[in-house]
Amino acid sequence: TCRVVVLISGNGSNLQALMDDCQKPQSPAQIVAVLANRRDAGGLERARVAGIANEWVDHSAFAERETFENALRGRIDNHSPDLLVLAGFMRVLTADFVRHYQGRLLNIHPSLLPAYKGLHTHQRVLEAGDSEHGCSVHFVSEALDGGPLIAQAKVPVEAGDTAEVLAARVLRQEHRIYPQVVRWFAEGRLKLDGQQVLLDGEVLPPQGRV
Ligand code: GAR
Repeated sequence: TCRVVVLISGNGSNLQALMDDCQKPQSPAQIVAVLANRRDAGGLERARVAGIANEWVDHSAFAERETFENALRGRIDNHSPDLLVLAGFMRVLTADFVRHYQGRLLNIHPSLLPAYKGLHTHQRVLEAGDSEHGCSVHFVSEALDGGPLIAQAKVPVEAGDTAEVLAARVLRQEHRIYPQVVRWFAEGRLKLDGQQVLLDGEVLPPQGRV
């Protein structure tokens, strides 16, 4: 089985979707630990309920990003992960950290990347008047929200949508595609080859599997 460590900062609804999928019989992946950068991350309780090791490393206790990351890396690597999954982890990671997990580090972002990198994506989509929105799963590279795309899901923007309504519509898709991508990786079907993503040996298009 593929040993997965999940990093969170908040509610952990994506973590929940991943845990639910990994608990199915014959799942190729096992979540061995959940780590948060804040003690009050709601997802820690979800991990507790699921009987999964859960820890927190409070980033605000460290003066430098590097010292925080060194502590985090130590905790992560204690669990010998084959795959590190960012699920609503809201700290920017240094190039050193990203390089250490190159090819085994995934992120989910609530936009159709490369559009709307960064924060407040739903509000920005509404303000732009876009008719389409969505989410993206990608291998993490040193560029913020810039790594090679693996999968995307699209949702319509409806008249009268608020950021909250739109976020909920996108989250339902996040909960569908993230477990799928983790399965692909755990089954050995998904590889990062330089800047290219291979699924079953085939190069995926730039937007990934849509
Ligand atoms: C999700 O929408 C995820 O895509 C986003 O935070 C939310 C976490 O929700 N991630 C980012 O914005 C990363 N920059 P969750 O805690 O319920 O999974």
